Amino acid sequence: MPNPVQEITLSLAQSPDLTAAACALVDSRDDNAHPLDHQAFMASRAVIVAQNVAGELVGCAVIKAGRGDIAELGYLMVRPDYRRRGIAAALTQKRIQIAREMGIRLLFATVREENRASRDNLLKSGMQFWGNYLSIRGTGNTVGWYFLVLDNQVDVTTEMLKLVGDRVRID
Ligand SMILES: CC(C)(COP(=O)(O)OP(=O)(O)OC[C@H]1O[C@@H](n2cnc3c(N)ncnc32)[C@H](O)[C@@H]1OP(=O)(O)O)[C@@H](O)C(=O)NCCC(=O)NCCS
Repeated sequence: MPNPVQEITLSLAQSPDLTAAACALVDSRDDNAHPLDHQAFMASRAVIVAQNVAGELVGCAVIKAGRGDIAELGYLMVRPDYRRRGIAAALTQKRIQIAREMGIRLLFATVREENRASRDNLLKSGMQFWGNYLSIRGTGNTVGWYFLVLDNQVDVTTEMLKLVGDRVRID
């Protein structure tokens, strides 16, 4: 029986090996996600890992690669046998805390519309829904955009409109 979430340790992956293990965990996702860009994953600004008492990796999530004070959350994955124990919620709170410490002023995330678990996790973590847009990949998928303001001076409308660019909004 897996351990309860209290026995899960969250930490910032400091070694290339742990980061690579997190990358492999995300790669094991079997729900029709796009192929993982390993280079982009390895360049993440922060990789947070969840480990059980035996030290096994049971979840991970990142603040994606990029510069400046606007950052994207992504690559959230919890091992199937450890789901529904609050690990994604804890990983998301930790990412928000680390983003604040990094001086990030606005966080955003995108989720396929049908990924209810991930969408609800973002909303429960305090993120707000911005809007649905057609995927820029031309797949016809609807992608929900979410944001969290960490600095009230940020002009959310201007920044979110810049981020979504010329994607087609779906009302
Ligand atoms: C999405 C995912 C990370 C959730 O991980 P998790 O550790 O099971 O999530 P948590 O237990 O922390 O749940 C947090 C909240 O998310 C929502 N949630 C999680 N799983 C859910 C499910 N199967 N159905 C509906 N809501 C769900 C709930 O609102 C939950 O809060 P609650 O427990 O108070 O109801 C996990 O299902 C997963 O790895 N999925 C495959 C990869 C993926 O989709 N990643 C996100 C890509 S954008």
